[in-house]
Amino acid sequence: MVLDPFCGRGTTNFAARLVGLRSLGVDSSPVATAIAASKLVMASVEEILDEARRILAEREASHIPEGEFWQWAFDPTVLDALCRFREAFLEDCTSDARIALRGIVLGALHGPKQKTFPSYFSNQCPRTYAPKPAYATRYWRERGLVPEPIDVLAVIKRRAKRYYSMSSDTTGAVRLADSRKAESLQPESPDTRFNWVITSPPYYGMRTYIPDQWLRNWFVGGPDVVNYTNCNQIVHSSPEEYSADLRRVWRNAKNVSVENAIMVIRFGGITDRRANPLDLIKSSLNDSGWRITTIKKAGTATEGKRQADSFLRKRSTPMTEYDIWTVRQ
Ligand SMILES: C[S@@+](CC[C@H](N)C(=O)[O-])C[C@H]1O[C@@H](n2cnc3c(N)ncnc32)[C@H](O)[C@@H]1O
Repeated sequence: MVLDPFCGRGTTNFAARLVGLRSLGVDSSPVATAIAASKLVMASVEEILDEARRILAEREASHIPEGEFWQWAFDPTVLDALCRFREAFLEDCTSDARIALRGIVLGALHGPKQKTFPSYFSNQCPRTYAPKPAYATRYWRERGLVPEPIDVLAVIKRRAKRYYSMSSDTTGAVRLADSRKAESLQPESPDTRFNWVITSPPYYGMRTYIPDQWLRNWFVGGPDVVNYTNCNQIVHSSPEEYSADLRRVWRNAKNVSVENAIMVIRFGGITDRRANPLDLIKSSLNDSGWRITTIKKAGTATEGKRQADSFLRKRSTPMTEYDIWTVRQ
């Protein structure tokens, strides 16, 4: 049984599933948990497409956001379809097919225009973060980039085939919660305990997960404007408060793990902060119930293909990342 208290988009949970291990992922971002959940369900391509067709045929959108940004970001037919999906999922997103479909739409919501088949619903955009409205509208207007009428079902079909053609019996659970609270990490069944904790917390200073994902956050129920409040996110006001917040999470993880459980933390830094990442993580582990056994260099964020790529806008200064191996005391 594997726990990731900062599961983000569910890399740990998906990796656990691939090797047949059950897992629990917890994250306080609704976008992250929606994407992670879509990696753990069992749904066939046909079930996903049927659900998409049904929603588009049977629903009318009751609210469609207005204003310059929305006019430039999506063709009106595409925005209408997105609003139908959005409202359907907000009403009920409990079946595996819907969870899968929501993940697919979130992934395709914005990204670059493709030369061959369209892969994204939006006008030209970055894939990994949503541009702020004023900047994006200026960019599109200056270049005369108008949004195209994308065949929404065709995009969904291609993605469903790519992600859901293989099946696995192992599933897992994902929870939208603040891992600093003890109850957030409780396993689904009271007699289960975790053997592994595999995680990567927000690096010190990386506090823009929610505003950077404001468009996807809108899709899962957030407002149709950028939201800067850092709801239930780790505090970054000082290194001391940051370490104390992480320590809370490590202690909570200890309380739901078996004796000798292993926790591995992938950790690095972002370049605009002077705090030393290794000092920060070591201090967070003091008195946490976990003892460091090994620290391995995991290379820099520009070597190979890795998660941190998504968080780097300019590849100027590569940051070294570390894997901190600990054992439960
Ligand atoms: C480095 S990312 C994790 C990336 C992840 N491994 C993945 O596969 O995408 C850190 C995550 O911590 C989450 N987070 C920040 N504060 C949190 C808190 N108090 N409780 C739970 N999750 C939190 C953020 O929303 C973000 O998704």
